[in-house]
Amino acid sequence: MLQIDVLTLFPGMFPGVLGESILKRAEKKRLVRIAVHDIRSYSRDKHKKADDTPYGGGPGMILTVQPIFDGVRSLKNKNSKVILLSPGGKRFDQALANGLARQKHLILICGRYEGVDERVSKALVTDEVSIGDYVLTGGEVPAMVLIDAVVRMVPGVLGNKESAVSDSFQSGLLEYPQYTRPREYKGLKVPQVLLSGDHEKIKEWRMKESLKKTKKSKRKA
Ligand code: ADE
Repeated sequence: MLQIDVLTLFPGMFPGVLGESILKRAEKKRLVRIAVHDIRSYSRDKHKKADDTPYGGGPGMILTVQPIFDGVRSLKNKNSKVILLSPGGKRFDQALANGLARQKHLILICGRYEGVDERVSKALVTDEVSIGDYVLTGGEVPAMVLIDAVVRMVPGVLGNKESAVSDSFQSGLLEYPQYTRPREYKGLKVPQVLLSGDHEKIKEWRMKESLKKTKKSKRKA
């Protein structure tokens, strides 16, 4: 069982994404357990404040260290990986998702505003992860991206029919183009080879198309 605990200022952003489809089924099958915690609930401030202005001046608000420290301390065990979602982190990819799917416990800290007090990164965090070279308003959407990519790789989450083996990126190649009924739509036809019943030929065609697609997208085959 993979346990994922999320620390965020906006817990309301998560139920929609976590409550549908494969993620919901994974929780039902008890293959993963996901809990979302409000950072403010760990604040010892009387107004439950969890951010403050930066030392040295500058715009915006910084997440304070105390609520995140106490939150992580109350959730952490010896198997925990503590991950901060931040644009400066290691770039998230399929290999990282596969590795995290083999862990027992992930604590995801969602940064917000202009940043998080650096002592969180220095003293608490085991991995900093970015989902790409662009800046979002916070770590919540990145945390959901990470959860989606990781949970589907937990053994048993995908059925045979949805197997991840032929996924784009697992083989280093993008997946070949797929078609389903009807054979023709507004003059757009399904490639003849897929209707031929010749499985060798179909395999060959798919490999060729995978290579073509990967080359065109400028990713390494
Ligand atoms: N927070 C803001 N932007 C982010 C990104 N690109 N990846 C992870 N966390 C972020």
